[in-house]
Amino acid sequence: MNTFHNNKKPIGVFDSGLGGLTVVKALRKRLPNESVVYLGDTARVPYGNKSQKLIQEYSLQIADFLISKGAKMIVVACNTASALAIEALKESVSVPVVGVIESGVVAAMKSTQNKHIGVIGTIATISSGTYRETLVRQDDHVVVASKECPLFVPLVEEGWLTGPATEMIVREYLDTMKKDSIDTLILGCTHYPLLKPIIQKIMTDNVTLVDSAEAIAETTADILSNNSLAVNLSTAGSLQCYVTDLPARFEDVARRFLGEKIPRVQTVHL
Ligand code: DGL
Repeated sequence: MNTFHNNKKPIGVFDSGLGGLTVVKALRKRLPNESVVYLGDTARVPYGNKSQKLIQEYSLQIADFLISKGAKMIVVACNTASALAIEALKESVSVPVVGVIESGVVAAMKSTQNKHIGVIGTIATISSGTYRETLVRQDDHVVVASKECPLFVPLVEEGWLTGPATEMIVREYLDTMKKDSIDTLILGCTHYPLLKPIIQKIMTDNVTLVDSAEAIAETTADILSNNSLAVNLSTAGSLQCYVTDLPARFEDVARRFLGEKIPRVQTVHL
């Protein structure tokens, strides 16, 4: 029997703040008819310098909130939460959960020729070792060079995406990575794709940058279709954003970054 599926519920997406909008943009492009409900935990950002216990607690609270808004699956659009809370989420949440790390790793494995892969991310993401473990699980011949780049998030939050100061900081962090003969670099933090032009310039065109936002949009499409959760409409899906603080600032950035009108961003107390 050919069952007709049309699940109009939204995809729940979260990040510690603004950075997850890179994932929302990729999802809107790949799955334009799906609705999205997003939560940016702007009151508690950054997650990158917090403990695993706290990151798990925040992530579980947010997943509960998104499910209360009807989320049919959860996309963890935060590398730090994906590195430290994905298992806890998968265990306690009743809908499918996907994190950025697995998708980024699969994309990096497809891209690398010499099996030397670099990963950059927050202190919590890099010190968790999750990227390294996930890469080596795919192929134990892979050589991984990783580097935490804690100043990249504030640069992006401040909108310092270009200019000599940003270039100097990016160069300082990535200089050691250049000596590791990597041919692929995973941007293991949702903020970093916004620094892509400057990172590409410093790493040169010999290195392919893996933006996990695009990779996770593809994985999300597969999960929806494999679990009969996809919408079957020809109209554009809606986007509703919630934050835990400063909605006006988020709204302004989100409108500019996504290039679309979005309904008023609402504040939620978790
Ligand atoms: N969203 C976080 C990530 O992708 C970066 C910002 C933070 O430290 O919270 O790792």
